[in-house]
Amino acid sequence: MDTQDFTRPIFAPVIMGTSRQGRASEYAAHFVFDRVSKRSDLRTDFIDIRNIRLSIDDAGEAIKDSGFSATVAKADALILVVPEYNHSFPGLLKHVLDTNLKEYIHKAAGVCGVSAGPFGGVRMIQSLLPVLRELGLVTIFSDVYFGNAGKLFDPATGAIADPASTGRVDKFLNELARRDLGNIFEPMASTR
Ligand SMILES: Cc1cc2nc3c(=O)[nH]c(=O)nc-3n(C[C@H](O)[C@H](O)[C@H](O)COP(=O)(O)O)c2cc1C
Repeated sequence: MDTQDFTRPIFAPVIMGTSRQGRASEYAAHFVFDRVSKRSDLRTDFIDIRNIRLSIDDAGEAIKDSGFSATVAKADALILVVPEYNHSFPGLLKHVLDTNLKEYIHKAAGVCGVSAGPFGGVRMIQSLLPVLRELGLVTIFSDVYFGNAGKLFDPATGAIADPASTGRVDKFLNELARRDLGNIFEPMASTR
């Protein structure tokens, strides 16, 4: 019989979802990565899609990157930090995600949106959710929204201007790590 070790840290790599030069999402991704790294219930890895050199004259499993596939296969969950481009996600991220199939099945996925506008990539997240579901991932309730990214991160240091972001990311990670499901369900229970 299959046995699972429920005491080991959950492996949740952070996927940096754009290759754009000068990307503000990189600051957001590092901020999230640092919060994950501080926890004993999670361990992580930083996957930068810029470093996954895929062919563009083919698509899907035929052009798998062995390193990316191996990391996703080992992952228990994925954390995607993704900018909003024309109300959707970067095409390169889809090209990368499309190269795997069974590696994703029934693993948790959480999305952090990044945008120049005030909505923190919420429209991108709405576009990305059906894709993640079709890949077999199981999306969590919580998202993180990094809006006004041009002002939110100090361009020299990457430091974040909004201190409340730490708590928001930690709450998101709590759900990903299934540590506070009691708290999530409490408001519903109390209305009965
Ligand atoms: C092709 C492209 C499309 C964009 N579309 C949007 C958009 O729809 N809404 C928005 O708020 N910002 C949009 N932006 C701005 C990005 O959200 C902004 O650059 C932000 O910093 C996150 O992206 P970055 O990591 O590439 O910097 C767009 C940027 C690019 C390059």
